[in-house]
Amino acid sequence: MARRAASAILVLHGPNLNLLGTREPAVYGRVSLAEVNRAVQRHAEARGARAVCRQSNHEGELVDWIQSAGREGFRGIVFNPGALSHYSIALLDAVASVRVPVVEVHLSNIHAREEFRHRSVVAAAAVGQISGFGPASYLLGVDALLGVAAGPSGRHAASPRRR
Ligand code: DQA
Repeated sequence: MARRAASAILVLHGPNLNLLGTREPAVYGRVSLAEVNRAVQRHAEARGARAVCRQSNHEGELVDWIQSAGREGFRGIVFNPGALSHYSIALLDAVASVRVPVVEVHLSNIHAREEFRHRSVVAAAAVGQISGFGPASYLLGVDALLGVAAGPSGRHAASPRRR
């Protein structure tokens, strides 16, 4: 898929996000993953980009997709690692190992929930984190990523590790 994805961004959803719409609706709402993906794709298209959405319940598959994103030509990744955010050093290392910028997103405000959710180990390698806006977190993530991917003028000065 190499160069064909050049104007595309990769949207990755981690474990249990396939159950959106029925999973703990008081926390995550009633919008399904398919609806979130459609909204993200429309949002990206309106901004001249294309969004390719993938979901996995498996840490290793997410690592593989992060590693191959550059080879596949994606300009960046909008990533909701789900519960893996809070403990996956493998995902932290994967995000730190690639040149493509990664924006971490969460539907819920992880800082306002149980203490074990307050910390994301992945966040240290991400360009930044968006948390608490429901499905709109992904749309804000797309906007943030397109700003970062636009080059130095669109990049926040406080994001030291992005070249
Ligand atoms: C989540 C927050 C995580 O703590 C949780 O384990 C999820 C979803 C969110 O999008 O709010 O699976 O990443």
